[in-house]
Amino acid sequence: MNLERRTKKSSKRSVLVTGGTGYIGSHTVVALIAAGYNPIIADNLSNSKASVLKRIEKITGKLPLFYKIDLRNTTALNKIFQKNSITSVIHFAGFKAVGESVAEPLKYYENNIQSAISLCKVMDRHKVKKIIFSSSASVYGEASANPIKESSATATTNPYAHTKLIIEEILKSVYVADPEWRIALLRYFNPVGAHESGLMGEDPQGIPNNLMPYISQVAVGRHKKVNIFGNDYPTVDGTGVRDYIHVMDLAEGHVAALKKIDTTIFSVPRVINLGTGKGRSVMEILRAFEKASGKVISYRITKRRPGDIAVCYADTKLAKKILGWKTKRNLADMCNDAWRWQSQNPKGY
Ligand SMILES: NC(=O)c1ccc[n+]([C@@H]2O[C@H](COP(=O)([O-])OP(=O)(O)OC[C@H]3O[C@@H](n4cnc5c(N)ncnc54)[C@H](O)[C@@H]3O)[C@@H](O)[C@H]2O)c1
Repeated sequence: MNLERRTKKSSKRSVLVTGGTGYIGSHTVVALIAAGYNPIIADNLSNSKASVLKRIEKITGKLPLFYKIDLRNTTALNKIFQKNSITSVIHFAGFKAVGESVAEPLKYYENNIQSAISLCKVMDRHKVKKIIFSSSASVYGEASANPIKESSATATTNPYAHTKLIIEEILKSVYVADPEWRIALLRYFNPVGAHESGLMGEDPQGIPNNLMPYISQVAVGRHKKVNIFGNDYPTVDGTGVRDYIHVMDLAEGHVAALKKIDTTIFSVPRVINLGTGKGRSVMEILRAFEKASGKVISYRITKRRPGDIAVCYADTKLAKKILGWKTKRNLADMCNDAWRWQSQNPKGY
C-alpha cells in the first residue's frame, strides 16, 4: 500500500468503495459523506487520479481514507479489511470501455472478474456480506421493448457487458451458497454531468468514449467536432436515444441502496435499474449542451457503429418501489453541471 491517508478513526459506518477515485465512485463518496457514512476508497488509479481526493475534501470537509491497491491483490485487500471495521462494500472498480473490451477481451475478463472474485473472497473471510455492484444497462443488449424492465431478457453483445453479467451471476451464486449475503445489482443507464460545485466531474483518459464528455471537450476546444454515429435510426431525429442520468442522482441511488441493504433483509439479490425513465437523442443532448455552454458544437454524421442500438431507456418503477429513490435533476442540470466542471477544468483534474 504505497498511498494511504488516514483521517480520524470514525464511529460512522465504514463502506469500502472500490473504484472510488473514478467518475461515479468519487461522486458517490461525496454523497456517502453527506449521508453520514465513512467511505474508504480502494483504487489502483488505472483510470483515475489521486488528486480527486482533495476535491472531495474541498466539497465535504473530509479527506477520505484511500488505499492504492489492485483489487486482484487479495493480500493487500485483506489488510484493508483487517485495519478497518468495514460493514459494506460498493464495488465500482473495473474497466468499462465497450470498444476496448472487443479489441482486448482478456484484459476485461481478467480485470473485472478476478477483481470481483478477490473482493468476495476477502469479504467472506471478514464476514462482510453486504455489497452493491455496478452493473450496466448494456446487459440488456437490444431490448425488445422500452422502457426496459429488470425482468427483460439479457443479451450481451460485447465482452464488457459479459463481464457485468458474469459478475451478477457470481454474486447470485454466492448468495445461494450463503443466504446471509445482501446483494444489490444496480444496472446503470448513461451517467453524465458533474458535481454542482464544478470541482468534480468526468475526466476521461485519452479520447472520450462517451457522448457528453466528448461534446464538452469540443466545447472547450480540445476536439473540433463531435462524431454522431448514424442518423438513420428509427428515433425522433434519427440519432440514437439513451437514458441519461445525472451522476449525483446516481450517487444518491447508491446511498438509497446502501440504506436498504443495511436495514432490510433482501430475500434474494435484487437487480434494480437506475435511470430517469426518459430517452434523449444524441441531437437533443448536443442542443441542450449548446444552450448550457453558449457555444456552437460542430458535429459530423458518420456511419452507425457496429453493436450500437437505436433506443434504450429504463423502467424506473422498481427503483422507486424498493429503494424509495428517483432522479431529481433534469437535462439542463446535467449539461450545466458538466459545463461548469469542464470550463473550470478544461484539462480535467
Ligand atoms: N460510466 C458509465 O457510463 C457506466 C455505465 C454503466 C456501468 N458503469 C460501471 O460503473 C463502474 C464505475 O464506472 P466509472 O464511469 O466511474 O468508471 P471509472 O473508470 O471512472 O472508475 C472505475 C475505477 O476503477 C479503478 N479500477 C479498475 N480496475 C481496478 C482494479 N483491478 N483494482 C482497483 N481499481 C481498479 C479505476 O482506476 C477507476 O478509478 C464501472 O464498473 C463501470 O463498468 C459505468
